[in-house]
Amino acid sequence: MATPSRGSWTGHLGFVLAAAGSAIGLGNIWMFPYRTGTNGGAAFVLLYLIAVIAIGIPLILAEVLIGRSTKKNPVGAFRTLRQGTAWPALGWLGVVAGFVILSYYGVVAGWALEYTWRSALGGLGAIDEEGVAEFFARLTSDGPRQVAEQAAFMAITAAIVARGVEAGIERASKVLMPLLFALLLVLLGYSLTSEGASQGLDFLLKPRFDELTWSGVLAALGQAFFSLSLGMGAMITYGSYLADDESIVKPAFLIASLDTLLAILAGLVIFPLVFTYGLEPGAGPGLIFITLPKAFLQMPGGGFLATIFFALVLFAAVTSSISLLEVVVSFVIDEMNVRRDVASWGVALLIFALGVPSAVVPGFLDLVDGLASNWLLPVGGFLIAVFAGWAMTADEARAAYRGRSNSELGFGAWRLCVRYLAPTAVGVILLQNLGLIG
Ligand code: PFF
Repeated sequence: MATPSRGSWTGHLGFVLAAAGSAIGLGNIWMFPYRTGTNGGAAFVLLYLIAVIAIGIPLILAEVLIGRSTKKNPVGAFRTLRQGTAWPALGWLGVVAGFVILSYYGVVAGWALEYTWRSALGGLGAIDEEGVAEFFARLTSDGPRQVAEQAAFMAITAAIVARGVEAGIERASKVLMPLLFALLLVLLGYSLTSEGASQGLDFLLKPRFDELTWSGVLAALGQAFFSLSLGMGAMITYGSYLADDESIVKPAFLIASLDTLLAILAGLVIFPLVFTYGLEPGAGPGLIFITLPKAFLQMPGGGFLATIFFALVLFAAVTSSISLLEVVVSFVIDEMNVRRDVASWGVALLIFALGVPSAVVPGFLDLVDGLASNWLLPVGGFLIAVFAGWAMTADEARAAYRGRSNSELGFGAWRLCVRYLAPTAVGVILLQNLGLIG
């Protein structure tokens, strides 16, 4: 049983919504559409789906079962399972990744915050179409403004985490996740009835394999990792608040399905609008911050829709950032015996400080993002798969995997994935990133 002082989910719905909240974030609404746009549309989506099913779901299971069976933060979990070995260092890698990712995640979420309040107050409508790119360029080169928005976002994150697993994280997820889907449905209604709907659907659903490059293949794998919050122990941490008798197989499938659904729906909102207004679907990272606002500026009621869209981005970012913070906070609470509220605000302050260079030094954000997405998460994911597949004995893994809805067939398939498929596939990404292949 989880000790009351560590907190626990009220049930599997709380866990699924919180974990789906962690997964659904900027990765779905910001990265997935722009990467789809630059990597052959549906060809990228198809590869992404394969990565989610073959590697993502087995790794969610691996992380959650490590957390559920130890009831510890990532460092404590590996220490409990393999005392006196180097494995706890893998937990440390996760804690460091949480620090690093949240440091720049807060800056990008700060942009969403700026866009939300500006569109809500009608300010975005005051700039013309040409001005959007300039507006974004000005925002991203205005250090103090970005730091202020990042600070506000980090304060929201800390306030939720400080309230605890049930009253903070679970409650926020239970409010924000349904709201997020509702907002998305409103936007979808507009998008799918716009003139460019069929072109947008074609773009997202018809594969153009000739545009897919080797680096696109790797981007699909990396995207699956980042989007499912894998490779740094976020799912270990959330799994540690799960009671022993809760099943993990169905939730793992549900989390992956919700995450994928949201990424695809985000694409279904964005691309029809992009085509309706004759814009460029392969615009890259500026897709939602420059291209999409241009569409909003041209459409009737665009200010209102822009507000809804950026609020959606913001909510998605909040439910993800709380999981990033929680990885570090759970470590500080468990290992250093610090009170939750002190740990939450203290760690948030440190991470905020670490994020300031991402806001003020040009190019730094991309550098840290590259470090985290291309290195920390894949290395972490590779090692977690190796741990679950090779360091844990079959009996140990079977005992940790057990739950309400388990089957020996399911266990066998999972074990094969974490032993062979996941380490091989992720190993390939790493070798490619090292420049050793491709
Ligand atoms: N999954 C989040 C997203 O798609 O935006 C990002 C993320 C959250 C990555 C938590 C890693 C993590 F541990």
